[in-house]
Amino acid sequence: MKFFIDTANLDEIKSAAAMGVLDGVTTNPSLAAKETMPYRELLAEICKIVSGPVSAEVLATEHDGMLKEAEELAAIADNIVVKIPTILEGLKAIKSLTERGINTNATLVFSPSQALLVAKAGAMFVSPFIGRLDDISSDGMELISRILTIYRNYDFETEVLVASSRHPMHVVESALMGADIVTMPYDVIAKLIKHPLTDIGLAKFLADYKKAAKG
Ligand code: G3P
Repeated sequence: MKFFIDTANLDEIKSAAAMGVLDGVTTNPSLAAKETMPYRELLAEICKIVSGPVSAEVLATEHDGMLKEAEELAAIADNIVVKIPTILEGLKAIKSLTERGINTNATLVFSPSQALLVAKAGAMFVSPFIGRLDDISSDGMELISRILTIYRNYDFETEVLVASSRHPMHVVESALMGADIVTMPYDVIAKLIKHPLTDIGLAKFLADYKKAAKG
């Protein structure tokens, strides 16, 4: 399973890359708004750090505007994947961009029917937002399971990119289901390595050695 980081923060991206687990980056307008550098400059910097896919989102909501923005974003670097909102105009844009050789990531997906359509239109990635479903007492992981079943039934090439993950178990459950990718905030990556017994065991090893060395 591939690990993407869900951030536009350069320090977080550099730190995750240094851990040797980073396969790509996802950004969105809300994440870009938290940073001071203009979005496109930021994307260029991110693409210098990460050679895997870097998702950059359009702001336009109609086909021609999405195409124009997507072409500008794709020109920033070869590894840019253009995030397109999963609406009717977005579906048309995914088809047009796929025909032009520009990779797309269908974002804001909340249902199996949306996932089916974007795969048919040729999206490289589908991004189901599981945390936001959990937030409204729905089951985010159930959506992942259903999308994986549909894609396997028909051998769709679109990769399932689990998005809006909030905690380590979202990552573990995604891996158990065989999702292709999880994108996660920096703090989720950091939490994945933590175990209290590791910390207690390490503290004991060091204390025991110190005691013995004293004697
Ligand atoms: O990749 C999508 C992600 O940024 C959404 O996450 O936590 O805002 O639901 P969240």
